[in-house]
Amino acid sequence: MSHQKKTVVLGVTGGIAAYKALDIVSRLKKYDIDVHVIMSNSSCEFVTPLSFQSLSQNIVISDMFAEPKSWEIQHISLAKKADLLLIAPATANIIGKVANGIADDMLSTTVMATKAPVVFAPAMNTNMYANKIVQDNISKLKGYGYDFIEPNSGRLACGDNGTGKLADTKLIADIVISKLHTCKDLVGKKVLVTAGPTIAPIDPVRYISNRSSGKMGYAIAEEARDRGADVTLISGPCDLEIPFGVKFLKVETNGDMLCSVLKIYDNMDIVVKCAAVADYKPKKYAKEKIKKTDKEFTLELEKDNDILYELGKKKKNQILVGFAAESENLLKNAEAKLNKKNLDMIVANDISCNDTGFKSDFNRVTILTRNDKFSLDKMTKKEVAHELFNLINKLKR
Ligand SMILES: Cc1cc2nc3c(=O)[nH]c(=O)nc-3n(C[C@H](O)[C@H](O)[C@H](O)COP(=O)(O)O)c2cc1C
Repeated sequence: MSHQKKTVVLGVTGGIAAYKALDIVSRLKKYDIDVHVIMSNSSCEFVTPLSFQSLSQNIVISDMFAEPKSWEIQHISLAKKADLLLIAPATANIIGKVANGIADDMLSTTVMATKAPVVFAPAMNTNMYANKIVQDNISKLKGYGYDFIEPNSGRLACGDNGTGKLADTKLIADIVISKLHTCKDLVGKKVLVTAGPTIAPIDPVRYISNRSSGKMGYAIAEEARDRGADVTLISGPCDLEIPFGVKFLKVETNGDMLCSVLKIYDNMDIVVKCAAVADYKPKKYAKEKIKKTDKEFTLELEKDNDILYELGKKKKNQILVGFAAESENLLKNAEAKLNKKNLDMIVANDISCNDTGFKSDFNRVTILTRNDKFSLDKMTKKEVAHELFNLINKLKR
């Protein structure tokens, strides 16, 4: 996301899922977004304004005719201030009101008055959601350009099973953050990102792997998606949630990764190889579990594929970016890798610092191109991803 502070107006309406909107506020605040909450009167029956006020650090508005806290006319001022208006959870009632031009409280009036994108995250009983009137209202609003984050299926608070559960709060926050991304400079570009570790199996239960968490690669895939690219993320085994809006492929070994990457490589515009691919694998894979004995055990390893080198050889018009995780001679080794593997850019990653690197949310990197070097301060992996694509875009010109 660009670093200019953004404003989100969050409308909370009266359903059981109203408490989940608290989590959305904290997630957005973590991205330094200014969040203003408007609560419908009914929603105040479910959660107190004080909770939203504390988390958003802004006054919560619910009563349109309350004495103004500032000289500005609030429904207009928030409508103007908003870069995006999110309604989560959105009741059948608010959907119906907006679809029919009703503006009888602060939230519905603000929706009418705003020019910002409006996103609804509905949550309601399955039968309510399936009701033809609700569905017609949703279609009508979609036709006017309003966005919807579809509810999930599952067991609802009322005990029924079916569709109507508020979408995952992380997904809602991620979609909002993605929509706030104003710089769409990768529209029409195909971007391939690899992430996470690979594993080299020894026997059916054991394997060799490394400490890569996948966080850097996933952040890069998300940044490319937010800038409008068509993104494929090929990931080794890691615990992260699959980002929305990207084509996702899970692989295990170096060989799997090479195979999957080669299938699409020729069609890509930008390839960022962030995965920590195993360089060696056991010479022999034991089909049965290796038994423990009293003797020493030696495992013989052989070289595995050098995927980046293969891609460098086959490169046509792609921009090829590699990563170098080094614990010594960082820049020298990274520069050698840039040249040997025919890369356009390499991100040198000093793994000797214990406050950044593998499992951390932070990184401190130096990005090298063929003729330049950019040393970045310690920053979040998301910020590194942002800076990385700023530099990739300069290479494109
Ligand atoms: C316990 C309870 C739970 C409710 N849950 C929902 C819900 O999840 N979704 C919904 O659309 N309406 C739900 N309603 C009904 C709304 O609160 C009602 O339609 C209200 O008028 C909505 O007002 P609002 O849209 O201004 O918040 C619930 C009502 C009660 C009493």
